[in-house]
Amino acid sequence: MPGRDWVVAKFGGTSVSTRARWETIARITAAHQAQGRRVLLVVSALAGVTDLLKRIAENGSDEAACRMAQDEIAARHRALHAELGLARANALDGWLSRLDQLVDDSRRAACALAWQAEVFALGELMSSTLGAAFLCAQGVQTQWLDARECLLAHPLANQGAWARHLSASVPAAPDAAFAAALAARGDIFITQGFIARNPAGETVLLGRGGSDTSAGCFGAMLKAACVEIWTDVPGMFSANPRIVPDARLLVRLDYEEAQEIATTGAKVLHPRSLGPLRRAGVPLVIRDTHRPALAGTEIRAAAPDAAPCVKAISARKGVTLVSMETVGMWQQVGFLADVFEQFRKHGLSVDLIGSAETNVTVSLDPSENLVNSDVLSALAADLARICRVKVIAPCAAITLVGRGMRALLHRLSGVLAEFGALDVHLISQSSNNLNLTFVIDEGLADDLLPRLHALLIHADALRVEDGAVFGPSWRQLGRDAASAAEPAWWRRERTRLLALASEQSPRYVYSLDAVRTQARALVRSGSPGPVDRWHYALKANPHPAILRTLHEEGFAFECVSLAEVEAVRATLPGLAPERILFTPNFAPRAEYAAALAAGVRVTLDALHPLRHWGELFGGRDVHLRIDLGVGRGHHDKVRTGGAGSKFGVALDDIDAFRALAQACGARIVGLHAHLGSGILEPDHWRSVYVQLASLAEGMDAIESLDVGGGLGVPSRPDEQPLDLAELGASLAEVKRAYPRFALWMEPGRFLVADAGVLLARVTQTKRKGHVQYVGIDAGMNSLIRPALYEAWHGIVNLTRLDEPDAAMVQVVGPICETGDVLGANRRLPECREGDVLLIAQAGAYGAAMASRYNLREPAPEVVL
Ligand code: LLP
Repeated sequence: MPGRDWVVAKFGGTSVSTRARWETIARITAAHQAQGRRVLLVVSALAGVTDLLKRIAENGSDEAACRMAQDEIAARHRALHAELGLARANALDGWLSRLDQLVDDSRRAACALAWQAEVFALGELMSSTLGAAFLCAQGVQTQWLDARECLLAHPLANQGAWARHLSASVPAAPDAAFAAALAARGDIFITQGFIARNPAGETVLLGRGGSDTSAGCFGAMLKAACVEIWTDVPGMFSANPRIVPDARLLVRLDYEEAQEIATTGAKVLHPRSLGPLRRAGVPLVIRDTHRPALAGTEIRAAAPDAAPCVKAISARKGVTLVSMETVGMWQQVGFLADVFEQFRKHGLSVDLIGSAETNVTVSLDPSENLVNSDVLSALAADLARICRVKVIAPCAAITLVGRGMRALLHRLSGVLAEFGALDVHLISQSSNNLNLTFVIDEGLADDLLPRLHALLIHADALRVEDGAVFGPSWRQLGRDAASAAEPAWWRRERTRLLALASEQSPRYVYSLDAVRTQARALVRSGSPGPVDRWHYALKANPHPAILRTLHEEGFAFECVSLAEVEAVRATLPGLAPERILFTPNFAPRAEYAAALAAGVRVTLDALHPLRHWGELFGGRDVHLRIDLGVGRGHHDKVRTGGAGSKFGVALDDIDAFRALAQACGARIVGLHAHLGSGILEPDHWRSVYVQLASLAEGMDAIESLDVGGGLGVPSRPDEQPLDLAELGASLAEVKRAYPRFALWMEPGRFLVADAGVLLARVTQTKRKGHVQYVGIDAGMNSLIRPALYEAWHGIVNLTRLDEPDAAMVQVVGPICETGDVLGANRRLPECREGDVLLIAQAGAYGAAMASRYNLREPAPEVVL
């Protein structure tokens, strides 16, 4: 049927990594089809696969590293193949053998650019192949299309070899012949993002964010009715919502504004995708895969009557300024040419420019330049011959974006006053009248943004009441998502908590009901749950009442010290010792000996114990903790995998471990991996499970696979809770592929974090300069997480729970450390001496990590 509209829908890495996500893609495609549209799906590689391919592409000389990455890539795709329930023979095998050939290829050693492009391309070729097979199996008849047949890259003047192969440009424009030829072949296609061909017929890549670029090209060539970018956030916002939770969803932008926002900071959309669409007049919408009911951000041509208005405030960090001073510049012909010649020579593209009689200052944007100290000192040395040079870094460029910026200046006095109080290095107003940029020291940016956002609203420059442009705030969207959830238990228990605090302060309070609720939610996830055995990692909170509660809920226990083993045995004397899993790291020999003697299960995470204390392990069953090569988690200090971490046996050493075990007569009955703590992506454990299962297949005695703990809980208002149903479903899929191994997990934080609060009283308040402090009687000796990990704990004034928020304050403790800050930049009602503040989510790693620093006793614990 000619004349039917095309829709191009692009899905990124996380959106194509699980069966649940592919089911969403099938639903979206079928809905378009039902409305009579033709659909072209553009997909990225599975999440994490491009990084694995990069390990091959950039380490050509290290064959072992390439092979390891190759195995991991094969395992990832085979697991998704199994999860999707696809038939055995599949085109996937063809791509996997192509990968094998590329690793064997003689071009590998030199990491030839054309070879690299072919290696990278396999990620998208494989994901689209699996997707095509799955969609067909679901009854959505989808044809697989090789993007390299359609997108032809043109080398640009001045483009180096690297960019020609790995960051190529496709000059896409409406192509009726192409659209007609495709329509003649069918209605629904799936193709790859990120890849194209060059005039020589070689595979080339479209650079960072290349799948967005591909979607833009296809949208323009097909003159689609619409391009949809499906992602993990609701759209573009009026500021980075992680820094400004009150940022508003932008429901409508014109191409130029969207381009400006994407270029000056927002990471949601690659700016390169918009050019071809603007020229072809094709609209683009950004949609949230989790919340398909939200309209998202729509980008199209400017309405003719668009009134001047600020749409967003963005920030780019890592900006370097180069200030050049000369007395001789004034009206001297060719000075700027001489200066810019030096930048060209060092391959640096200049972003912003400010000039005065005796000074020119320019900025270098880190995303467009390789700005390192070598390049900068070489540049400075060359410039020093023509002027005095000063390099100012790190800076942040704060940009107000909106159409008709110059007509808004009279509204910006409050904003200008804020900047006036700071040391502004450079101000630039773009000649397209779309942006106004201030460059300041980088450290000031995060505090400034929320204030500026509020001032812009106050000044009526950011007209958030205009529902045609601005949607709900990020905070509101988070609340909507959480509104199904119960209010926190401590709100119901306010009176009791205030009474407890008046008896003694500071004080930790735990709710066993809250522990039980979390335990049941977890155990029932994906009912019947795929996990055969749950361990509680008691390092999070070893309080005896909590141990007893979780024992009643059917949990076994994971311990990291002999003292933890003894605490469990003392609290639960009837517990079978094999329900205790001992997972120490660099523990002394005596702890292993005692644990084995007690009949506790033991996990080894190094060769040393078998090599030097082999006699301890003769005739014993042991579990092996493996480092899968990457760490995950909420902070660097809690990532327990990868080269920087002291945990686990490296993949390379597994054979040596097995040989040592065999030599001393130990049986390896379990594999274990725990890669970090505070993880909120439900996909993580599935990926660990798949990797452990494929390793276990090559070993004869493995009975259980322990995929660790690390289940995160949202702490900031904008974070989404772990999707337990998705977690359960993704684990169940792997279980179906590997039914013979029992699946174990060992969460700590998830079970207890929200079950505990820290109550503290206000001791003193103080204003110093512009900063307002609220001092409390609990410090970092009671709760070290904010100081150690920059962890964010919600804080409320329990005494004045219903009063409106007043000033922004710093909540600090009494410890002699500048880092003794429990909450920075919090809005609380006016706090008075004696008020009770409640610090939320303190049940995990709170009391457990407390100390007597300054000889202040940490807060004692009480159970409701
Ligand atoms: N299994 C092993 C081997 C572990 O090392 C850990 C935590 C867990 C399980 C439990 O992880 P969870 O489910 O609680 O995330 N003090 C840090 C967290 C350190 C976690 C140490 N290992 C914090 O306060 O964020």
